[in-house]
Amino acid sequence: MSELLNQIQKDRVPIHVAIIMDGNGRWAKKRGLDRIEGHKAGVESVRNAVKASVECGVQYLTLYAFSIENWKRPKNEVDALMELLVLAIEQEAPELMKNNIRLNAIGNISSLPEKCQTSLLQSLRTTKNNTQLVLTLALSYSSKWEIVNACKSIAQKVKEGRLTIEDINEEIFQQHLATSQMPDPELIIRTSGELRMSNFLLWQAAYAELYFTPLYWPDFTKEEFYKAIIDFQKRERRFGKTSEQIQKEINK
Ligand code: IPE
Ligand code: IPE
Ligand code: MG
Repeated sequence: MSELLNQIQKDRVPIHVAIIMDGNGRWAKKRGLDRIEGHKAGVESVRNAVKASVECGVQYLTLYAFSIENWKRPKNEVDALMELLVLAIEQEAPELMKNNIRLNAIGNISSLPEKCQTSLLQSLRTTKNNTQLVLTLALSYSSKWEIVNACKSIAQKVKEGRLTIEDINEEIFQQHLATSQMPDPELIIRTSGELRMSNFLLWQAAYAELYFTPLYWPDFTKEEFYKAIIDFQKRERRFGKTSEQIQKEINK
């Protein structure tokens, strides 16, 4: 077993880890390759992150695969990414079943090409009873889009008399987000050295621990995933309280 995996305290593993998988283009450029080759290489890192999650007992893994803003990229890159998505979903389906992994998707799924939607829906359906890990792909996702949608559905309910303004609170709001069925991420990882959220899980990240690494996504191995978990376990999560209060709670 890996040395690093052994260092992870099994009873303090984050329930939900989310990753901003960034740096595919720069990884390729550094090698004199086309950006698409970076995206292809990134698929292997996705496999590794999924395996590492299962091995250390993470229950929810959310991967930022394509943002709404990414539609602004050159058409050939967008097309290649969509093709890669179909290929990866279809190729990985047996592996998801074998490892008891449930696929989930958040984002404006109806904006994806027909072919992507079909293979995605197929995989969502076949894996829906799996229980080891919920693997969520954020596809054509942006946090502001999600928050605006939540506001719209709440407003609609108020209009129809199914909800009053007084009913609206943080919990009700949360229930109208695409992530309503999962706990908030406890750890958010971003690769490639960029120190920003890029419109990812803004509401849900309110108390997440952030972990940044300069490595490009295709270089992010299982060992790197374990390092992030170990780093997370060294942090004191205070949620607004004092360190003394937290220590008292731990020693209880
Ligand atoms: C992340 O890598 C993948 C997507 C956003 C789809 P990038 O393609 O953003 O790579 P860089 O940031 O240009 O290196
Ligand atoms: C964020 O990466 C989106 C994904 C990883 C899918 P970007 O590369 O699009 O982010 P910015 O544009 O550098 O903020
Ligand atoms: Mg990028």
